[in-house]
Formats: sequence, structure tokens, C-alpha cells
Amino acid sequence: MKRSSIVFALVIVCLVLVMAVSVNGAAKKIVVGFSQIGAESAWRTADTESIISEAKKYPNIVLKFSDAQQKPENQIKAMRSFIAQKVDVIGFTPVVETGYEPVLREAKRAHIPVIIIDRMVDVKDNSLWVTHMGSDMVEEGRKVVRFMVEKGWKGNVAEMVGTVGSSAAIGRHQGFNEMLKDHPEFKVILSESGNFTRSEGKQCMEAFLKAQGKNINILFAHNDDMAIGAIQAIEEYGLKPGVDIKIISIDATHDGFQAMIEGKLNCVVECNPLLGPQFYEAVQNLMAGKKLPKETVTKEGVFPMEVAKDVMPTRKY
Ligand code: AHR
Repeated sequence: MKRSSIVFALVIVCLVLVMAVSVNGAAKKIVVGFSQIGAESAWRTADTESIISEAKKYPNIVLKFSDAQQKPENQIKAMRSFIAQKVDVIGFTPVVETGYEPVLREAKRAHIPVIIIDRMVDVKDNSLWVTHMGSDMVEEGRKVVRFMVEKGWKGNVAEMVGTVGSSAAIGRHQGFNEMLKDHPEFKVILSESGNFTRSEGKQCMEAFLKAQGKNINILFAHNDDMAIGAIQAIEEYGLKPGVDIKIISIDATHDGFQAMIEGKLNCVVECNPLLGPQFYEAVQNLMAGKKLPKETVTKEGVFPMEVAKDVMPTRKY
């Protein structure tokens, strides 16, 4: 073969390769639609930040992010829009457990896999979602009682519940009450929702104090934000949070740690919001045709106020 023909053949091969790479490269973009609950707590803000910032680390991922502002109907609308846009994967955290079955069926019919993170749905057909990653909410509730027992606490308990109908509130309430059955030293005298927000947590605590005042010995708040709202209400009432009323909450946010350092919150049970890395790893694996575990439970700790000062600098949310 002549030298000029070899050069010509090489040029053609290179051109074909370049075209193949660019065509595949364009086709390889993975479009992910994500429906987030809203921005009710510091935990949620950290979770959103993790999902958005982590997406930027993957050049082949395009994220379409939608904030439902606490309304399940907004999530359903967003998911229908993702389906219409033919995204490759839908990620979502349901506000509440129920009501999503029809839209999940629509996603399945459109062959769009759904990854659920953090809170869970309650559907009869588990093939409607591919994988779930997040905390064991029931276990979190159990951890609260274990800590109370370990510390020798006793007396009247007020439970400040999260968003009614959410798997986080249902699970924590369940685990907490399940364990309490074996501990007659505790008596739950109040249980109301503070909707996972600081302002509603404060209002809820004001109502608790109005109803039971100094009879309340222990407060279990389903998240740090509500505990912080409650701390304000307790101080305004003239009692010392963390002393007159022992407080334990779930999340382990910076603000939770700060309240522990100030001696106003006795313990936090960790619930990790930094789910972005796990989520995109699952997306990549799914797109590569790998089989995903149905459930991945986050490993989490329990932090009493005594360790708060030392641990705080290592916290990432
Ligand atoms: O679903 C996780 C819970 O939701 C977190 O405990 C809470 O802070 C958030 O709003």
C-alpha cells in the first residue's frame, strides 16, 4: 500500500473515532429529575446542597431539580413533567408516605427508574421504585429511648412529632413507642406535631407548656429544628432547657451541636442528610446496567452533649 493511502486510511479511522466519541458522548448525558420536599429544616438544606453540588462533579449528569414546597401535589406535578421530558432517572424524597402510587406507575410505564432517598413511600407494588437509600427511622426512635434509659432519665415525656404522614415521623414514633412499652419509668403525656420546622416547634412547645407546664420532664423532638424552637419557648416560659426539661432530638446538625455546647440540648441522634454521593453512584450504576440493592441504610451515631464540643469541628452539616 502506498504511503499516501495509509495516511488517508488513518485519517478516516480517526474521523470515525472522533465522530463516534462525540455522538456517544452526547448520548451519554444522563438526565436526572429530582423532586425535593422543600426547605423545612437545616437538615433539608444540607440534603439539597448535597444533591445539587454533587451533581456538578459528574460531567455526564444533567440535574433538573424541583422544590415541592412541602406539597405532595407539587411533587406529583414535577414527576409528571420529568416523565414528559423523558428524563433517564427520577430521584425523589416523598413528603408523606402515600399518594404517589399512580405517578410511580406512570414512571414505570415510561420505563423511567425511580430512586427514593431519605423518606419512604408506602406502596403495595415495590417494583415501582428501584432502590431506596436513607436512614432507618424506626431505629432512630429506638435509639432515643436507649439513651434515655442509659442516662437514668424518668418521668413525663412530651413527644414533638414531625410532619404527619411522613415516614420520618411515622418511623420515629413507632420505634420510640415500641421501646417505651418495656419502660414504665416514662409516661408520654403529650404528643403533637411541630411539622419539622423551628417556628412550629416553638408554637408546639408553647402549647405543651400551657397544657402541662412543669409536669414535663423530657422532650423528644423528632428533629433538631423543632428542638431549637422548643428551647426558645422553654426559656421564654422561665425554665432551663436541658436542665429543667431534658431534651433529645434527631438529626445532629450544627445548630443541634451548638445547642448541646450551650447546655440546652442533651443529646442528638444522627440522621445523615449528605446523600448526594450515594445517589449519583446509584444513578451511574443503574445506567451501566448494574443491579442495585433494594435498600441501603445509612450508618449513624448518637451524640450526647458531653462530646459536642470535641465532635462539632468534624461535623459536615
Ligand atoms: O426526613 C428527614 C427529616 O426531615 C429530618 O429529620 C428533618 O430535619 C427533615 O426535615
